[in-house]
Amino acid sequence: MFDATTDRAAHSVSAEHPRRAIGAARIVALANQKGGVGKTTTAVNTAAALAARGYRTLLIDIDPQGNATSSLGVEKAELEWTVHDVLVEGHAIGDTVLSAVRPGLDLLPSTPALAAAEVELVGLDRREHRLAEACAGVITRYDVVLIDCPPSLGLLTVNALTAARHVVIPIQCEFLALEGVSQLITTIDLVKRRLNPPLDVLGVLMTMYDGRTRLSAHVVEEVRGFFPERIFATVVPRSVRLAEAPSYGQAIAEYDPGSRGGVAYDAFAGELVTRLGLDPPGNGTVPPDSAKPPSDPA
Ligand SMILES: Nc1ncnc2c1ncn2[C@@H]1O[C@H](COP(=O)(O)OP(=O)(O)OP(=O)(O)O)[C@@H](O)[C@H]1O
Ligand SMILES: [Mg+2]
Repeated sequence: MFDATTDRAAHSVSAEHPRRAIGAARIVALANQKGGVGKTTTAVNTAAALAARGYRTLLIDIDPQGNATSSLGVEKAELEWTVHDVLVEGHAIGDTVLSAVRPGLDLLPSTPALAAAEVELVGLDRREHRLAEACAGVITRYDVVLIDCPPSLGLLTVNALTAARHVVIPIQCEFLALEGVSQLITTIDLVKRRLNPPLDVLGVLMTMYDGRTRLSAHVVEEVRGFFPERIFATVVPRSVRLAEAPSYGQAIAEYDPGSRGGVAYDAFAGELVTRLGLDPPGNGTVPPDSAKPPSDPA
């Protein structure tokens, strides 16, 4: 099972990180190789909430399922260019994104064709760095870049972890919630050592909390034991409205902002802004690396 010392280790690494260029986007990967834990729901709704707050936001869908793409109402069959073209063909992100899928929100979409990239990338130069190098071309265009990872630890997730400065790990409030987390932390540590030294676990977001069960509360306490300083104060409740919104191609902020899920994702976006040390939107500058490990939230 997961070794709690890793949490402390991640702290010390973040302190050694060289200062980030002023005005460069914060790149955050949503990663957990376990399926169905809320990566996409978190990526889409947080991206929409950040854009609504005025942050220039890019959402990268790097999952062949393309769930983030369809959750925003984008018809995958009609896409001319996707993240596959960026990763495999070397297209520039700036020429590939769907601009302004919402005010302030661009999307680098995905389709099932991306599944082939796990194999295609193997034979390519700098196969783990291809997303990172593509992101370098647009880093000043955005305040925040969110990457929705697939449920695996293959080359697509490794590309996301190599491009990102921060990882957010969504964990579902269910039995065996921490199963696989040690493997994820091992992968993050490996990427940090070999490919991307600044990489840091920004936090753990508990999802699908069911207040009617003791299990959910128990799981949150168990996870807090493993990540005492990293668990976000916001806990996302299980909410039918969150599950319904993608079928309307809407973020929860559009579908039902006042629902419990809508309120939770807005609060989470606020926590993310704080942890990333983002300035208020629109003043054109983002401060140098000021993201400090937060004190243990209540
Ligand atoms: N808080 C929530 N309340 C209710 N349903 C939710 C919640 N979060 C996510 N869901 C639903 O659970 C399912 C899985 O969520 P999601 O697609 O976000 O997980 P994921 O980690 O991205 O999955 P995958 O690993 O397949 O990419 C979806 O049907 C989604 O609508
Ligand atoms: Mg997903």
